[in-house]
Amino acid sequence: MRRDFESIIDGYLDKRVGVVNDFLSSKLSFDLIGNLKLLYGEEKLRTAGIGNGENTAIEQSIRNDKIFWLDKNELKESETAFFELIDAFVLYLNRTCFTGIKSYEYHYALYEKGAFYKKHMDQFKTDHGRAFSMIIYLNEDWVKGNGGELKIYKKTEVQLISPENRKCVFFKSDELPHEVLVSNKSRMSITGWLKTTS
Ligand code: OGA
Ligand code: NI
Repeated sequence: MRRDFESIIDGYLDKRVGVVNDFLSSKLSFDLIGNLKLLYGEEKLRTAGIGNGENTAIEQSIRNDKIFWLDKNELKESETAFFELIDAFVLYLNRTCFTGIKSYEYHYALYEKGAFYKKHMDQFKTDHGRAFSMIIYLNEDWVKGNGGELKIYKKTEVQLISPENRKCVFFKSDELPHEVLVSNKSRMSITGWLKTTS
């Protein structure tokens, strides 16, 4: 059992948001950053949509990050290591919290300078499969002036989270509205959802 898995879950249970600062090793984060930069250079990232299936629309006034979905059939070594970590986390979560997670989906995301994602919820109205949202940041030497904070709207307070390298954020997808504030610098992450449907 990893102590950081426990802190993610404790944070979620106590404060509705689990945060750990060193979810990824420095090596894993370094390699994933390399992959994402390569994909960006090769122009493989796509402007993200809103909604799912037929409802997907590209609405750049709401979000203008660029994404690349990870495909389990085409993984690089570091991405396989990433999914091994996620598998271990899901196993731990299901065992300790009876969450019944059956599948997940993850994408790389890159916010170019000036990009943002306005206030939203992660669960689609037509698909209730997304149970938990998880964001892992890939930004070395992130400083406050870079902006790009994740702003989470809780019932009685607002929580601002800086997208620092190797940090993981975890919350329930249908519970907390959130937004990404304008980023003054290229901002990278892997974002995913744990699902109760397969
Ligand atoms: C999302 C999202 C938050 C972040 O992709 O749905 O809210 O901090 N991302 O990148
Ligand atoms: Ni979101």
